[in-house]
Amino acid sequence: MTGPPGTELLSDLGRARDEVGEVLEVQLLGGGLVEITARLPHLAATARPGEFAQLRAWQGVEPLLRRPFSVAWTEGDRCAFVLEAVGSGTRMLVALRPGDALRSLGPLGNGFGFDPCPARALVVSGGLGCAPFPLLVRALRRAGCPDVTVLSGAATGARLYPAERFRRGDGGVAVLEATDDGSRGHRGRVTDLVASRCDAATIVYACGPNVMLAALASTLAGLAGPPRRAEVSLEAPMGCGFGTCLGCALPVVAGGGPDAPREHGTAWALCCRSGPVMEVSRVAWPELLALPPAHVA
Ligand SMILES: Cc1cc2nc3c(=O)[nH]c(=O)nc-3n(C[C@H](O)[C@H](O)[C@H](O)COP(=O)(O)OP(=O)(O)OC[C@H]3O[C@@H](n4cnc5c(N)ncnc54)[C@H](O)[C@@H]3O)c2cc1C
Ligand code: FES
Repeated sequence: MTGPPGTELLSDLGRARDEVGEVLEVQLLGGGLVEITARLPHLAATARPGEFAQLRAWQGVEPLLRRPFSVAWTEGDRCAFVLEAVGSGTRMLVALRPGDALRSLGPLGNGFGFDPCPARALVVSGGLGCAPFPLLVRALRRAGCPDVTVLSGAATGARLYPAERFRRGDGGVAVLEATDDGSRGHRGRVTDLVASRCDAATIVYACGPNVMLAALASTLAGLAGPPRRAEVSLEAPMGCGFGTCLGCALPVVAGGGPDAPREHGTAWALCCRSGPVMEVSRVAWPELLALPPAHVA
């Protein structure tokens, strides 16, 4: 949850716990997306929307570090994660089978804010940025939000997270899709759909590649009637996940908040402790996009 403009809300490390769970199900969703469900009672009982867990499913020292994943949804003592194989850690995670052990450290990070509950929530998901949203959508609805729309974008139709998994049985949740190649829904960027669905009562929640989030920031900045608030969930290379290694520092506007003059320059904030969710105006977008690709041990 982000704090008021100019303030920083740090993750609550008091809730994080190391636990070893059991994989219950590994589902191939299409387009390389995989949903892993595991019995992780502590994480399931405590994770809030937008928070993440550091996962490890391997015994050896390669890769050395746990890998961060958003908690996609929880049900009873079960938690789910959505991912795809992009490197050594994710390859081992998607190779898990029911009955295998999955170690989780979490919940970590600060989640999305929905108190007070918005009159209208616009959830903008790009590719694997879908991961935190089933849990957020459910929380918004349970908090009484009458109007939740998910804008779901991906490169192709096969890579769209299934609309029904955002809704999880709630017919009151609208899902509109966009694909770069036009194979499903609107042909073009998911951010094309934002302007016509935003008003002063809306809170925007977004997660996706940094370049998509930067495009969203620029779309929102150009609106005649900006949303009440916009929160983005960012990614950074992570070592520890709880503020000690300093590997996840991201550029933010010094002073923070929408009213801070840009000439105050850039500061650094830890993605794992004052993120991954940040108010859109807090992020120093040009500097973020200029960061070199990261290597994680
Ligand atoms: C808070 C947070 C939540 C995340 N949630 C999800 C999720 O729900 N689903 C999902 O699929 N991915 C998620 N990611 C990204 C995921 O953690 C990385 O893809 C994963 O760590 C890569 O590990 P690897 O060993 O497979 O790849 P590596 O071999 O370490 O790297 C492969 C590629 O992934 C990039 N990469 C490595 N670490 C990260 C990182 N932390 N963020 C972005 N790119 C990275 C590398 O630069 C490289 O290009 C999240 C990242 C963060 C910071
Ligand atoms: S991941 Fe170690 S300080 Fe953020």
